[in-house]
Amino acid sequence: MISYASRTRWLWSGTLTLLALAAAFLIALADNCEHLGLCPPAPWSADELALLRSMTLDNIPPPPASPSNRVADNPRAAALGHRLFFDSRLSANGKISCASCHRPENHFSESQTRGRAIGFTERNTMSLVGSAYSPWQYWDGRRDSLWSQALTPLEHPAEHGGNRMEYVRFIAADPQYRAAYESLFGPLPDLSDHRRFPLAATPIHNESWQRAWREMTPEDQHAVNRAFANLGKAIAAYERLLLPGPSRFDAYVSAVLAGDEKQQQALFSEGEIRGLRLFIGPAKCIDCHNGPLLTNNEFHNTGLLSYSAELPDRGRRAAITRVLADPFNCSGLYSDASEQDCLELRFMRTGKELLGAMRTPSLRNLANTEPFMHKGQLNTLMEVLEHYNQAPAAMIGHNETKPLKLGRRQLKNLESFLHTLSGSIDVEPKWLVPPTSSEPATVTRTHKPG
Ligand code: HEC
Ligand code: HEC
Repeated sequence: MISYASRTRWLWSGTLTLLALAAAFLIALADNCEHLGLCPPAPWSADELALLRSMTLDNIPPPPASPSNRVADNPRAAALGHRLFFDSRLSANGKISCASCHRPENHFSESQTRGRAIGFTERNTMSLVGSAYSPWQYWDGRRDSLWSQALTPLEHPAEHGGNRMEYVRFIAADPQYRAAYESLFGPLPDLSDHRRFPLAATPIHNESWQRAWREMTPEDQHAVNRAFANLGKAIAAYERLLLPGPSRFDAYVSAVLAGDEKQQQALFSEGEIRGLRLFIGPAKCIDCHNGPLLTNNEFHNTGLLSYSAELPDRGRRAAITRVLADPFNCSGLYSDASEQDCLELRFMRTGKELLGAMRTPSLRNLANTEPFMHKGQLNTLMEVLEHYNQAPAAMIGHNETKPLKLGRRQLKNLESFLHTLSGSIDVEPKWLVPPTSSEPATVTRTHKPG
């Protein structure tokens, strides 16, 4: 039989061992809580607050001026561009409009690996929301303005598949389009003499259209090019209206800056706060995804693979020659800019580090825009985060990112944070649907930046 005294001693030593184990466990937890994602969120430091403020839409200026497009901010040009954007008659088969791939309900992107119209494009469709802020268009930046970009899909065989001569003829034959065009840009060229102006012609893609183009005089080619460029300028004026609206993240930062704890708790979970802290801290996302649109608009190689049957995509490095050769670039004949306005083009980076580099996309448009990356290589945000976590060697050029070595819970927190960046599009609803026949050309933004 065990005596009373020895039983008490036994109980005591048991309790002490348990306490020691619990203490050791808590110490281990505290040491690793950051890794396990279990630390209580600490208050934001002054530096962090300044960084958070720089990421909100509150201080975002209007899109930068577009000196190469003199109607960039003309509401009547935007109204014309709005109609062109949704008009499937501007295509070889009468079925494709810009909105076929840039779908308003998907933040002007689409849920496809590659753009799909008459054929398939080589890369993933980009969202157009906020594109007006970037000096370069496309994943590789092979166009230097929204208006020069807009001309490209209209003639691409896999996209709208038409030719500039037919488009200018179509505008001239439609009384409403003609009136809207001429009130902005002056008279359209007289295309009635078919010996001078064939029915279909363009200098690119289709062999018989190219032949017809070569037979035209340089003056007549120039007149058609100018009218074609003007269609792009009207479309660009419309695209400049597609601006990102505030997200839950912006509301959270306002609450933090106002010191409103209750509001902060209502807006952001602890996991989302931890994800944000990783984003601006150890995960280094902020190095490239910064400013109110969460992009530096620069080109980086992040080590993405191409599909097995394809050559690796040379990205920005190959696009440099293309943007310089584009007759519709800022320094070209159809630009409204003076040479001093074309600094981006004159002083662009051209180094070897741009091999395989793509433009950093905004992270404000992630909801409903999967798959992600330039070829839609990654299906979910978790796949994107796992990619950054591993940072594999690039197929071409060098991956600029380093493995993050984050734990599962940290990746989950980052993912939750990324979801807080989605918001609406900051423009009146009428601009997000195909236009009705006569639309008053006014523009009011729904959100007034503070
Ligand atoms: C076949 C589907 C498709 C059609 C039709 C289409 N696009 Fe695109 N768009 C894409 C794809 C794919 C990309 C990215 C391609 C790349 O980077 O190589 C893109 C990129 C863009 C970009 C660049 C955005 C940025 O931030 O860099 C703009 C602007 C754009 N398209 C506008 C238009 C306009 C305007 C039209 C109609 C005239 C149009 N697109 C028609 C698929 C399409
Ligand atoms: C070195 C610059 C750089 C860093 C650092 C970086 N990114 Fe990116 N990010 C890019 C570029 C460039 C792309 C486009 C890559 C491509 O398609 O080739 C991209 C694409 C993305 C996309 C896909 C968006 C879309 O619409 O397809 C997401 C999401 C993303 N990054 C999130 C993050 C997160 C989260 C971090 C931090 C863990 C991070 N990025 C770190 C440059 C960077």
